[in-house]
Amino acid sequence: MPVTVVDHPLVRHKLGILRQDGVSTKSFRDLAGEVARLLTYEATKDLKTEKKTVQGWAGSVEVEQIKGKKITVVPILRAGLGMMDGVLDMIPGAKVSVVGMYRNEETLAPVQYYVKLAKEIQKRTALILDPMLATGGTLIATIDLLKEAGCKKIKGLFLVAAPEGLAKLEAAHPDVHVYVAAIDERLNEVGYILPGLGDAGDKIFG
Ligand code: PRP
Repeated sequence: MPVTVVDHPLVRHKLGILRQDGVSTKSFRDLAGEVARLLTYEATKDLKTEKKTVQGWAGSVEVEQIKGKKITVVPILRAGLGMMDGVLDMIPGAKVSVVGMYRNEETLAPVQYYVKLAKEIQKRTALILDPMLATGGTLIATIDLLKEAGCKKIKGLFLVAAPEGLAKLEAAHPDVHVYVAAIDERLNEVGYILPGLGDAGDKIFG
């Protein structure tokens, strides 16, 4: 399973602020969006383009444009919404598919409560957005439902991921390419990522 750690000074700096206890809701939202933009830059490097001739200032000029049905972003509610605006800044034509899931705090199993997918999702690359990949249960359930809907190309963008969740994803969906700002050390006994970000949903929504 391909995993790209977007290792860049700007990403490391912004992630360092996101990790600080007491970071304000405004700062957390702003920084989550900024890191999401940088992850999007990496995750869209393989988009196909086609040539087109346009009128430039000095006559006709050949340019490139993105080809065909493109992308649907898939924020996982709630916390994935905190990355969505940043991603859409970079790919404003993307459709949005919304998946609502939360973790049962005792079993850590994902509980689905809302799904609304974009039209013609089977022709689009899906970019799943979630600040955290912890046990991997939420992501695997989301990929399961996207594949059932006919989606063939799926990527995931995360601020931080736990090695345990990445291993579980590799076993379940080795075809999915993951882009992360950092792979953290481990999960604690209640399924939180260490050092992690704390509860990203609470930090974004209060
Ligand atoms: C968090 C996070 C992921 C999930 C990751 O959501 O945003 O969706 O947990 O955990 P997993 O990899 O172990 O499944 P949470 O359940 O806190 O919901 P929220 O975004 O609504 O706050």
